[in-house]
Amino acid sequence: MSDVKLFTYADLEEHKSRNSLWLTIHKKVYDVTAFLDEHPGGDEVLLEEAGRDGTEAFEDVGHSDEARDMLLKMYLGNLNPAEAAKNTTTANGKAQSGTPAPSAARFLMPIMVILAWWVYRQYFA
Ligand code: HEM
Repeated sequence: MSDVKLFTYADLEEHKSRNSLWLTIHKKVYDVTAFLDEHPGGDEVLLEEAGRDGTEAFEDVGHSDEARDMLLKMYLGNLNPAEAAKNTTTANGKAQSGTPAPSAARFLMPIMVILAWWVYRQYFA
């Protein structure tokens, strides 16, 4: 019910070994320890995402619905919303791949458009 457990990246940091391996996918925390030897994609990729946000890695592969259903059995709880907001850098200090600063890009885009329009006006209007 509403009794969902919330975890921080510091919690995940304590589960980065073969003996206990947690990772997050879509802001949910999963214990994939027992799945290491069964994963068709191998244990290496799971160890790589240990203790961090594996959403991008998981989605890039295009996992099947069957794979997504398997996640239910490994579900522990949710990532603390405050932590989820800062998921560009994980607790292990490694920067996540992908867009580094989407908010900055979003902020600059309208300015660039206005600037381009102004330059256009100067030369062609
Ligand atoms: C922890 C959650 C995960 C589950 C439950 C899971 C499950 C599965 C399953 C069932 C397959 C077989 C194909 C399919 O049904 O889609 C698969 C394949 C694969 N997975 Fe995962 N996976 C997980 C995480 C990851 C992560 C984080 C990566 C990182 C890159 C990854 C990489 C791969 C790759 C490369 C294959 C393809 C293997 C091949 O066809 O040779 N998986 N996974």
